[in-house]
Amino acid sequence: MIHGGAKWINGKPNTIDDFSINLNPLGMPDFLSDLISDAIKYKVYQYYPDNYTKLKENIAEIYDVNPEYIGVFNGATEAIRLLDKGINVPEPNFSEYPRTSIYFAEENGNSFIYRILGKKVLLSNPNNPTGSTISLEEIVSALNDGKELIIDESFSDISAVSSAKKLVEEFNNILIISTFTKSFSVPGLRLGFTIGKSSKVLESKAIPWRVNSIAYYIFSNVNPNDVRIFFNESKSYTKNLLSEIKLSIKFDFNYKMYNSNAPYLLFKFPFKVNILNDYLVKKGFMVRDASSFVGLNSYYARISIKRNFKTLINYINKFYSTNQSILKFII
Ligand SMILES: Cc1ncc(COP(=O)(O)O)c(C=O)c1O
Repeated sequence: MIHGGAKWINGKPNTIDDFSINLNPLGMPDFLSDLISDAIKYKVYQYYPDNYTKLKENIAEIYDVNPEYIGVFNGATEAIRLLDKGINVPEPNFSEYPRTSIYFAEENGNSFIYRILGKKVLLSNPNNPTGSTISLEEIVSALNDGKELIIDESFSDISAVSSAKKLVEEFNNILIISTFTKSFSVPGLRLGFTIGKSSKVLESKAIPWRVNSIAYYIFSNVNPNDVRIFFNESKSYTKNLLSEIKLSIKFDFNYKMYNSNAPYLLFKFPFKVNILNDYLVKKGFMVRDASSFVGLNSYYARISIKRNFKTLINYINKFYSTNQSILKFII
């Protein structure tokens, strides 16, 4: 399993300024840290969680869907691991997907265009790692054609994208996978969920007590209205920060920046990203070397957007000016 994120040191999290992991640029809201403190104060870890009814009701209320359609998992990754075989995946895409077959998105100028091809398709919307989105019209058209769709909306609560969650009421052939690890910036809390008529089948393959009592307590007691407001704020924040960064970005070398609607940007640099990372880590930063994504190579970097993006740009420019003579160019 290859993913972003700096390695822990002697059992303690690394305090590097990490641009390699995709989280909500707004960070964690105060109402969530209060609930985390309560969970510890009430020692909820001394109890087994129950059958997750309240958690499912809360998630259903946040998205205004039937609680019967909700499945809960130890992160979106658990739901992904439980999917049946026979899935077609457009690349580049999230590395954890089970792939029976693949096809490639079309690269058009600075955009990756993802289409829904084949009978059973799994895709991320917005896409990881490119930040591309797919329209609701295209999704509805594929569903009407009888295709089976699994749409991973893990970044949809914090991105400018139209969610397909409401379509689960009308169509039997769609399953949404999502998570709170990204939108609340809590990858260590591990709460993923599915929305769709096949959620129950997927849950029947999972182990009991897969969501621990701390995550269960927090997300069962969070106020759905607070969450909706926070997600709306997050979407606007991502949108504004993305346009600000796109306007102000200035690298001192030729590069390609892809169009993104998500809180991260995919770049193609004229040097290998692992060499850049060796330099950045010494300065306390890190970006995602995107070479492990199918269809990309070691010259691609995925960089999360954050308030202090400019500082990172300055370090990347410094890296370039210091190492210019030894870097191998491909653009
Ligand atoms: C598209 C996508 N889906 C799912 C996940 C995993 O989510 P979780 O932390 O809930 O397992 C990731 C993590 O990077 C992701 O990029």
